[in-house]
Amino acid sequence: MPPKKFRLGVLVSGRGTNLQSILDAIGKGEVPAEVGVIISNKETAPALERGRQHGVESIFLNPKDFASREAYDRELVTLLNARDIDLVCLAGYMKILTAGFIRAFAGKIINIHPSLLPAFPGLDVQQKALDHGVKFAGCTVHFVEEEVDTGPIVLQAVVPVQDGDTTETLSARILEQEHQIYPRAIQLIAENRLRIQGRRVLIQEPE
Ligand code: GAR
Repeated sequence: MPPKKFRLGVLVSGRGTNLQSILDAIGKGEVPAEVGVIISNKETAPALERGRQHGVESIFLNPKDFASREAYDRELVTLLNARDIDLVCLAGYMKILTAGFIRAFAGKIINIHPSLLPAFPGLDVQQKALDHGVKFAGCTVHFVEEEVDTGPIVLQAVVPVQDGDTTETLSARILEQEHQIYPRAIQLIAENRLRIQGRRVLIQEPE
């Protein structure tokens, strides 16, 4: 029997370009993993359609069907465990995870965020970077901990801010870099090449 593939569960809420970059990188053989399931909290998320076009099970889990955030996240855990998921990838998932979910997948959840953390956690961060006047913006892949946008950093990419930038132009250049570093971070985890020392994530050479 071939060895079991490293299985990703991707949580989404929107257009799904990061999901697409993961599917494409897997398709090109750059990431030794497979997407086992895609779950969205938004019924109309284009990400669901992208998943279905790739033949990946793509589920809309309606928050309105659950009495609490905790109950919703318990169902998420059940769905992911039933599909033998090794790593949960947040790809534009705009719902804050409960502590129960984060404990259930401790050390096995990563997120992509469109700023150079710890600068600009939260929402609308490309606009916040412009408003602040930073000269360098960028994006971060990090492990997810209970406090939002705080976990150990796996990879970052720097994007210089240009004088004529608007939120749209800066966001587009950051997004290009997101599509590079997110599949790369997943590759490193799937190849078991990360070692965590305190807050530092060290990358080992391939064996
Ligand atoms: C991406 O820019 C991602 O970094 C951001 O949402 C966008 C999703 O785009 N995530 C966050 O802001 C998380 N705090 P996508 O649906 O096209 O991948």
